[in-house]
Amino acid sequence: MRPLAKGLLILIISAGTSFSQISVLKPAFGTHGMVSTSDSIATAVGVQILKEGGNAVDAAVAVGFTLAVTYPQAGNLGGGGYYIIHLKDGKNYAIDARETAPAAASRNMYLDAAGNVIPGKSLIGGLSVGVPGNVDGLLTAEKRFGKLPIEKVMEPAIELAQKGFIVDGRLQEVFHHAEKELKRFHSTMKYFSRNGEIYRQGERLVQKDLANVLLKIEKGGRDGFYKGEIAEMIAKEDQATGGVITVKDVEGYHAVVKEPLMVTYHGYEVMSMPPSSSGGVCLAEMLNILEHFDLRKYGYGASQTLHYEIEAMRHAFADRDKYLGDLSFVSVPMKRLLSKAYADTIAREIDPFSATPSIDIYPELIHPPHEGTHTTHYSIIDNEGNAVSVTTTLNSYFGSMVVVNGGGFFLNNEMDDFSAKPGTPNQFGAIGAEANSIQPGKRMLSSMTPTMVLKDGKPFLILGSPGGTTIINAVLEVILNVIDFHMPLARAEMAPRIHHQWVPDVVYYEPGALVYDVKQSLISRGYRLVPREAIGEVQTILVTPSGYEGVADPRGPGDAEGY
Ligand code: GLY
Repeated sequence: MRPLAKGLLILIISAGTSFSQISVLKPAFGTHGMVSTSDSIATAVGVQILKEGGNAVDAAVAVGFTLAVTYPQAGNLGGGGYYIIHLKDGKNYAIDARETAPAAASRNMYLDAAGNVIPGKSLIGGLSVGVPGNVDGLLTAEKRFGKLPIEKVMEPAIELAQKGFIVDGRLQEVFHHAEKELKRFHSTMKYFSRNGEIYRQGERLVQKDLANVLLKIEKGGRDGFYKGEIAEMIAKEDQATGGVITVKDVEGYHAVVKEPLMVTYHGYEVMSMPPSSSGGVCLAEMLNILEHFDLRKYGYGASQTLHYEIEAMRHAFADRDKYLGDLSFVSVPMKRLLSKAYADTIAREIDPFSATPSIDIYPELIHPPHEGTHTTHYSIIDNEGNAVSVTTTLNSYFGSMVVVNGGGFFLNNEMDDFSAKPGTPNQFGAIGAEANSIQPGKRMLSSMTPTMVLKDGKPFLILGSPGGTTIINAVLEVILNVIDFHMPLARAEMAPRIHHQWVPDVVYYEPGALVYDVKQSLISRGYRLVPREAIGEVQTILVTPSGYEGVADPRGPGDAEGY
């Protein structure tokens, strides 16, 4: 294998050692290509692949495999993801690489004898794991739409796993946060600790077994992961830690190429992910509702703007939780949910001054909440106008906390995204209904919202975010900031955000999102306001007449780079 370009290696090593825990906003500009990811090493890899003649898909696949090495908290081989792809010939595709429930999964697998959800069972350990999909997603994207040989695309990830990278402050922080749970699993400690202590900032993390798994994928394609030794390792580790995944489950996994979901908004086309993600449907419903109101007239952050935004969020999330699930298993009224006529009815019913109590919408589904998350997003465009928007996840930070012995990669805890008991909240407070109940082979409902806004059929804005249910609203708010409020991209990213998800019936707001009189106005309209930390971490690219602008959200450790 050819060594990494010298410049890239230097960049990677220094990125690992000098990474600051305090994020700064670093808008980037390029005329040939742009890469925005949550990890500076992965961004450097993406740019390098573009410079070496790869298209946006090659770069996205290289970034995906790199994140599995350098961003183990969310980048993954053992998780799932979604891909929105626009090709220079004008064709658009979505790849659904969401995990599936194993064959032995059942509707009540997380309930005790009294029918109550057993805390933690769908979150930590083997039983929380869905059959991994992301490797097939990456390989499907590369095979169908990439142009470089897979060896070239996977080379940086393999080299980073073999030679190691320096753990930065951010990774140390998330390791520290999850330490208690990580320590529960022998194989996890085998790979992510030294002398019994989890890796710390400044230490080099070498992942030889992970490199071997990547080499097997590089040589054997999907069979290198989904058949034989790796499939056996996954099933063995999952079962050893309480799970039910079999080799047959792993062998049977297939990512699915779909049509992206499209909605128009003020003359733009917004393209996002159809179910098994709820992201596209919710985003479309919110945009359709908001098109009825002159948000620009009220302005960003005005109480009237926020009132309409919150009501749109409330209605879209209520429909999410009531209707959405894997379309291969349940019938979802997609046409109605996506129609302008349905949004029109909702918009007319919104009281211009007062909040709608969430209990007034589908009261039979409402119960109380809780939360915690991680996922990662990357946006890429190349010099020919091919563009890719990818969100991928293990669900929580480090997923199930279980690392596959012999493979060195984390398994997801995506089973928590099912409705363990319809009506009972998952870790994001999403309650779900029968449509998202557990069935063997079914994909659990997601909130991931990889999105592209097209203008005259060409990419205009490419974006997405981690953050569980907050993803959908973070993406919405950046779109509104650019299209309705005409903000420059950096400002659109930085502008403080709010979040409402129907249940709980509260408005979460970032510091600075609500000035004093706006707070008073919202309270008097009947809203309950709750401050919280970062809402989303949006990786965005804007296409302008003079080139590509990229901004990695300062709420996270990301990095955008153009050339
Ligand atoms: N696991 C988070 C999501 O898919 O929404």
